Amino acid sequence: MSRVRTLEDYHTDYRHSVEDPDAFWAACAEEFTWHKKWDSVRGGEFSPAGASTWFAGAELNITENCLDRHLAQRGNKLAIIFEPNDPRTRHLRLTYRELHTQVCQMANVLKKNGVRKGDRVVLYLPMIPQLAIAVLACARVGAVHGVVFAGFSAHAIADRVNDAQAEFIITADALERGAKQIPVKSVVDEALALCPSVRRVLVVEHTGWPVDMREGRDAWLHDELVGVEKTCPAEPMAAEDPLFILYTSGSTGKPKGVVHSQAGYMVWADYTFRNVFQVEENDVYWCTADIGWVTGHTYGLYGPLLAGGTTLLFEGVPTFPSAGRFWEVIDKHHVTIFYTAPTAIRSLMATPIDNVLSYSLSSLRVLGSVGEPINEEAWHWYHQHVGKGRCPIVDTWWQTETGGIMISALAGITPSVPARAGLPLPGVQPVLLAQDGSEIEGNDQEGYLAIKGSWPGVIRTTWGDHERCQQTYFTPYPGYYFTGDGARRDENGLYRIIGRVDDVINVSGHRFGTAEIENAINQSEYVIESAVVGYPHDVKGQGIYAYVICAGGVPTTDIDVQRAEASIIEAVVAEIGRIAKPDKIQLVSGLPKTRSGKIMRRILRKVAEGETQALGDTTTLLDPLVVDEIVAGRK
Ligand code: WTA
Repeated sequence: MSRVRTLEDYHTDYRHSVEDPDAFWAACAEEFTWHKKWDSVRGGEFSPAGASTWFAGAELNITENCLDRHLAQRGNKLAIIFEPNDPRTRHLRLTYRELHTQVCQMANVLKKNGVRKGDRVVLYLPMIPQLAIAVLACARVGAVHGVVFAGFSAHAIADRVNDAQAEFIITADALERGAKQIPVKSVVDEALALCPSVRRVLVVEHTGWPVDMREGRDAWLHDELVGVEKTCPAEPMAAEDPLFILYTSGSTGKPKGVVHSQAGYMVWADYTFRNVFQVEENDVYWCTADIGWVTGHTYGLYGPLLAGGTTLLFEGVPTFPSAGRFWEVIDKHHVTIFYTAPTAIRSLMATPIDNVLSYSLSSLRVLGSVGEPINEEAWHWYHQHVGKGRCPIVDTWWQTETGGIMISALAGITPSVPARAGLPLPGVQPVLLAQDGSEIEGNDQEGYLAIKGSWPGVIRTTWGDHERCQQTYFTPYPGYYFTGDGARRDENGLYRIIGRVDDVINVSGHRFGTAEIENAINQSEYVIESAVVGYPHDVKGQGIYAYVICAGGVPTTDIDVQRAEASIIEAVVAEIGRIAKPDKIQLVSGLPKTRSGKIMRRILRKVAEGETQALGDTTTLLDPLVVDEIVAGRK
């Protein structure tokens, strides 16, 4: 039932999932361990706006489904392979039995430290096994995990900790990234000066970097683990209890805490993982995304473990110690399914071809792409040089809010065409909407991408502010989930994602709101006002272009320009992190504004893209001359 094996199966299951979703998803859910079965499969159906329940009335614990359920058959099977940053450091392997024990021990540490069901625990850790173990330990005791990517700044951590009202943090001394070690605990210390809610900080000793431990608040994880029990009963959770919060950027300045709940997310993660990648028992699966992003949650951790698979966690970067590292790791661990982002492919394409040709890559069977549109050139390179022409590519479209993959080929089964995500998964009804909200019928059409009807992995709320969830996703087009993306349905009904239609830019597969970056830039003492837009970038997909008005006008000397730019970058690094650093900064005397004071971003986007000839009508601007200055000073 829950496994599509042929194109015919796909069409049958798709029809079944739409005509009788309750029966379809109930059959999928039967395969799991439940403390109590559900009273109803589907509820809410986006009415009132955003309302959705799945398997309401059921009780379960997702970690029993990730771990305990597999012990009898797969106790000695590898659950996690950990490949460290430095290839000279020994890798680590954990069987399902070992992982089960370590999760139980960590769960007991959490309990000992006062973590209770429903408490929020923020994890700020490198990509090491303890991150996976901590996530699962939270779920084991019923705490809500909030993983914050370890590239975010102290301010960004503080915002998230405060929004989630988290009382517990798990972190590490430092992380390794390529040739560098980067302190982690000290960033948390800086954040915690702004976070009165935090009572306890558990610290993983990873690199040996010296840290300050605050008496009464901070404890070493290895000390806490001494003598704890190796088993820990799993807390029974209601189907709709929150499982995790993951912050993501939208078109306003403040990131929102996307909340996923227990049962629907579990069924969705498992179903999509097994079907999209066509996973078999002996696969070694590697998703390169950090667990700090949703891809790492669903396809680095939960999906593979729910399916009883072997998942590889990698601490490092694709270019260390050389640009062949990905391929070396694939050969070393006989990876069969490889899932990465177009930006990584593009950055490796730019290096000498021998970096990939020196490896056999003969274990590979399926390739995946996620996070942004994959351009045809990158698709072909990936197909030819990595997949050696024999591995299907799945270009998977989805979002933090959708919990799992929505539109994608099922490997080797449904069509995989360059620059097309493909057909919707069973259970997903994509529609293209016109500006007035009417559905655009037929093929060879373009519109706003929305989803009709609920699916098990849909966002349940935004933490602490349900209205925001409703307003962002469900009220723009009543009855639909609005994705914020534009899409085209080609002549064969395959979907092609065009990109965001809101003020969100996608840099190397990471989402940032333009307002969020502007807020950060405006923290610089040099800055009066700024406007940020995305522009096409060869490697990152989109780059960040910032137009900035400085106090005292445009600086006239090189040294003043440099000072202002350095201060702007510093502000972004402090507020968000290095990942959101502008690629280009243009200091301007004014911004193109309408008479009502609205910034005309369309013009700024065109200039950033280099389309300075076709700026359209500028006569409604307050000061049309400012456009000439901006065009002349284009970076
Ligand atoms: C974009 C990442 C084209 C899209 C899983 C979406 C994609 C946003 C694809 C979500 C794809 C993701 N093709 N665009 N295969 N996958 N996107 O929440 O704009 O980090 O709205 O989730 O990334 O980013 P998020």
